[in-house]
Formats: sequence, C-alpha cells, structure tokens
Amino acid sequence: MRQFPAFFNLEGARIVVFGDGEEAARKLRLLVSSPAELVQVGDVALAEFAERVVHSVPSATRAVLESARLAIIADVPRRAEILAEVRARGIPVNVVDAPELCDFTVPSIIDRGEVVAAIGSGGNAPVLVKALREKLEAIIPQRAGEFASLAGKLRGFVSGAIPDQTARRRFWERALAGPAAAAAYAGDFDKAEALLKEAAREPQRRAGVVHIVGAGPGDPELLTLKALRLIQEADVIYYDRLVSQDILSLIRRDAARVPVGKSKGDHSVPQAEIEARLVASAREGLRVVRLKGGDPFIFGRGGEELDAVLGAGVEAHVVPGISSALGCAASAGVPLTHRDHAQTLTFVTGHAKAGGVPELDWKSLARPAQTVVVFMGVDTAPVIAERLVAAGRDPSTPIAVIENGTRPDEVRVFGVLSELPFLIEDEGITGPALLIIGEVAGLPLANASLAQFLPPEFAGAARHEALAFEE
Ligand SMILES: C[S@@+](CC[C@H](N)C(=O)[O-])C[C@H]1O[C@@H](n2cnc3c(N)ncnc32)[C@H](O)[C@@H]1O
Repeated sequence: MRQFPAFFNLEGARIVVFGDGEEAARKLRLLVSSPAELVQVGDVALAEFAERVVHSVPSATRAVLESARLAIIADVPRRAEILAEVRARGIPVNVVDAPELCDFTVPSIIDRGEVVAAIGSGGNAPVLVKALREKLEAIIPQRAGEFASLAGKLRGFVSGAIPDQTARRRFWERALAGPAAAAAYAGDFDKAEALLKEAAREPQRRAGVVHIVGAGPGDPELLTLKALRLIQEADVIYYDRLVSQDILSLIRRDAARVPVGKSKGDHSVPQAEIEARLVASAREGLRVVRLKGGDPFIFGRGGEELDAVLGAGVEAHVVPGISSALGCAASAGVPLTHRDHAQTLTFVTGHAKAGGVPELDWKSLARPAQTVVVFMGVDTAPVIAERLVAAGRDPSTPIAVIENGTRPDEVRVFGVLSELPFLIEDEGITGPALLIIGEVAGLPLANASLAQFLPPEFAGAARHEALAFEE
C-alpha cells in the first residue's frame, strides 16, 4: 500500500481551493456537501458556488491559508509560488494533475453522508477506479449513511442492553442486515429504531421477515439493486426453476438455498408447502427470500404467497423484478407498444390451471393494433394460433418467439401467426419461452439483424434468426 487512506474530519475545517476553472469547480463539487468552510482563491469567483463558497482574490492568499486544514491547487498561473506558501504552513496539499507534488490525492468518492467510500489507484488507472466505483455505488444502499447515524445514536442504548462485547457484535451483525435495515433502507427510520431497540432488549427473540423478490428474466445485470442486496443478506432463499445460475451464484455462501421449482405438470414442491416453509423459516427468525423468475406478481403466484405469509402474521415485502415479457422484448428489439402499431398490450397465460389452453376472450385478443404476450404458451401455441385466427386475427400477423430471453443461450424466431406451430417445432423450442403476437413483432426494429451487436456466445440465436428470415 503506497497510499494510506484516511478520512479528514471537516467539522469546523477550512479548505482552500486555488483556481477559477473547471478543475477547481470539480474539486469544490466534491466538497460542497461537507461541513467545511470552503474558500476559492482566484481572479474570478465561480458563480456555481456563489451561495456556498467564499471567494478570495489571490493577493489575500496568506490570510486565507492561516487556519486552513487542506489546500487544493487546481488551475492557477503561479503554481510554484502558491505551493511554497502552502508548504511553509505545513498544510497538506493536493496539486491537480501533478501527483509528484501532492501530499494527498483525491480518491473517487461514494458519498452517503455518514458512510463514505473512497477508491484510488494512486493516479495509475482512473478508468478502472471509475468502474469499481460504479460497482460499489450499486451495492451501498442510498440510505446507508442515515442508517449509520441511527446506529450511532443507539450505540449507548445497545451497550446498556447487551453488556457482553461479543454478543453485542453479533447483535449488530444481524441487526444491520435484518428487518431494521430493511425498514431504514425503505426510509422508515422510526420503525427501524423501534425494531433495533426491541431486538436489543430481547436478542434471543428475532423477528423474521419474508421478501418475495423478482429475479428478472435471467441476466444478473437486470436484477434491481434492492433484489441484489436482499439476496446477499438472506439466511435462506427459496428459489424457482426459472432463476438463472448466474443469479444463484450471487447468494451468500453461508445462506441456505432451497430449490422449490415447478415445471409444467411437475410440482416438485406443492404450493401449499412452499408457503408453509416460508412462514416456518421466518418464524425461526430468519431473513427469508422467495426468489422468483421475472416479476413475482406476473403469472408467478406471488400474490398467493404474500397472502399466505401475511395471513400467518409474518412480515412480508414484495420486490418487483423485470418481467420476462419486458426483458425478452427489449433483448429482441420488439417494442411492445408503438404509437402507430399497438395501442394495447395484453399479457395472457397459455396454460390453464387444469391443463391445456385457458378460456380467454379470443375475440378481443384478435383485434388488430395490439400486442399479445403469451406466457407458458409453447405447448399450446398451435391451439392459440388457431383460436386467434378463428376469432378474426389476420394469419399474417407478425409473431416472435423468444426462448431463454436475456440469457447467453437466448433464441429468437420471427415469423407470422399461421406458421407459429411449425416455427416452434422446427426450431426445437421447448421453453421457457414467450410468444409475442402483433404488428410490433414485424417492425424493422425487430427484424433488423441484431447479430452484429451480439457477443460470440449468442451465435446460436443469430443462426436461428437468419433461418427465420430465409423462410
Ligand atoms: C410461471 S411464468 C413466470 C413469469 C414471470 N413471473 C415473469 O414475470 O416473467 C413462467 C413463464 O415465463 C416465461 N419466461 C420466464 N423467463 C423467461 C425467459 N428468460 N425467456 C423467455 N420466457 C421466459 C415463459 O413463458 C415461462 O413459461
């Protein structure tokens, strides 16, 4: 470690920034949320900071440096002279774009108030630092700083309630990732405080919670930040067959993973048992995640599970996910609505509870200028196509079939309604797949080969697409 990261206390501190150009402005932007007294020394005052920063002319340099804690020399004409003035007073200094003259460098900062993260590479790889910062941005909750303030406020209370240091550390480890954290990250700090106090008074009696979380269509980058956090905090995760391996690999190593996946006709764990297990785990005081493909409330039985968990008196929350309908359409370049081609969008299931095709309002689904997205419709596609045509939908209506959407093995097939059954059979599509029926599936946007933008692992998909166009 060539550079030692340290956090300066800026309460009551004066920071002097020399310069009146963009570099000086950039540094000031980093500092404006701090409590420091900020002074900008330059010929011109930076208007952007008129309310917050004191402007001083260069001739007053000595005076403003008198009680400064830090100095930053940005874009100034007489750099060496200013540097000598700063050094003479022993003030730590940063000279922009001159690492060899710096006492300290300014890292890439993630500012969440009381929680601050800083990353630096000693000026060697700013682009790498930026990429790492973006990753950290994604995993540090927005309200982490406020939650840290609350924890600070309750430190005395918790020490009184749990005198043993090891027990107290365990308490904090659990508390900072439990229901109190969930309440704080949702912005309910009164509830978070009450939960922390309750847990500190009765450390043995932990309240469990169930989060019903949408995992999206498969690409882990399509997880929401909240889903990612909950997956990494959970004690136990009950997951569906549709949740991709890439997403499962994000689960904490010491968390229990329980597959409860169902496929058509094969209900490996009956629904009632899934619900009972969610409740039982929460009653053990565990942080339970019920991880479901796509969005939990779209053909996912999320409503039934929420009802069962709440009905058992257990705290429960739902975290939306990107439905496969949205993920597949985006990935295939099919706009689900379009001002000229589709004013209505309907999601239907192609699989009835008792098997076969469900009783749908075929007449309304057959109306033109609308998009119908069929979930679980691979097996019933021939009947669906037949019923739609019988109800009046044009047999030449464009369709798209997307299998394993947003995953490396995604397959897309384009055609028209009358050939839907053959396309599915010829391309060997077995699912999970979505049928997109409507004018939008035939737009140039969708049909323009996306192959040129595809990474090599998508070669299979590109081949299918080409085949479909030759027909
Ligand atoms: C039980 S439903 C769950 C839908 C899910 N809740 C959602 O919002 O996407 C399962 C069906 O979703 C569709 N599906 C889910 N993930 C998919 C994917 N990655 N690619 C294509 N279709 C998918 C398939 O039609 C599959 O049969």
